[in-house]
Amino acid sequence: MEIAPLSSALGGEVKGVDLSQEMSAELWQDIHDVWLEYKVLVFRNQDLSEESHLRFAKSFGELQPVRSATHIVGDDQPFMYIANRPVNGVPGILPNGEMHFHNDQSYYEFPCKASFLYALEIPKQGGNTMFLNTVKAYEMLDNELKEKLSGLSVFNVYDYDRNPTAPSDVYDAEAPQFTHPLVIEHPETGEAALFTSRLMSHHIVGMERAESDALLNQLFDHAEGLALRYEHVWQIGDLVMWDNFASQHARTDFDPEETRVMRRITVAGSRPVGLGVAA
Ligand code: OGA
Ligand code: MN
Repeated sequence: MEIAPLSSALGGEVKGVDLSQEMSAELWQDIHDVWLEYKVLVFRNQDLSEESHLRFAKSFGELQPVRSATHIVGDDQPFMYIANRPVNGVPGILPNGEMHFHNDQSYYEFPCKASFLYALEIPKQGGNTMFLNTVKAYEMLDNELKEKLSGLSVFNVYDYDRNPTAPSDVYDAEAPQFTHPLVIEHPETGEAALFTSRLMSHHIVGMERAESDALLNQLFDHAEGLALRYEHVWQIGDLVMWDNFASQHARTDFDPEETRVMRRITVAGSRPVGLGVAA
């Protein structure tokens, strides 16, 4: 296995690995280690059946059942098709358009720790997935701001019907929602990371709304700053996996007349713990 950095911010391309084959414990450990180091891993030219996609994801932990779209894909199935055409007879989800930055499932008590996205059909242009490093984003804040964030919690909500791709102030009372620390301690590396995003974070708990809006926007503008990004331009057969507690991602727009089909699996994570708070 070889790893080639994809940007100065985060991301590495793993070469010399065929994910359709069983792998040794040593190789798995190497991949696990570079995943934590690089936050986002890209494997090109993979020929992944549902089974091999599943096997690789499962090697990182228990799978997260698909919950946000159970009305579309049915219970207890681990695959989510992010697609703008039906797959296996069911409509895809998050079909079209730009999607703002987010950590996956930050509106659940137990967000996923890793996501595995595999490209089956891609448009000629656009539909890129952008990643930012939330550990670096935190690190680069000045001390005064770090101090200000200490102990804060943020209310996250995701109303799939109203705000699947862009933030909305209005949300259904039943929409999945959860409050998490705004700065978390990474469960495996112990690194401090921002855990608040433009798409899913609604307000900072116990803070006046105007102040909360201003502070969140300041953090989002900072984190989304160009130098912290890697933009993945997809090829069919790419498997991209990310560390959901150390990165965020967003999608650029693309022509809805062209098809884009991605198969996604997520692996369950622990409940995020605030920086400096004993678990
Ligand atoms: C996801 C996601 C964006 C994309 O799979 O969690 O946000 O590029 N995907 O389709
Ligand atoms: Mn996502």
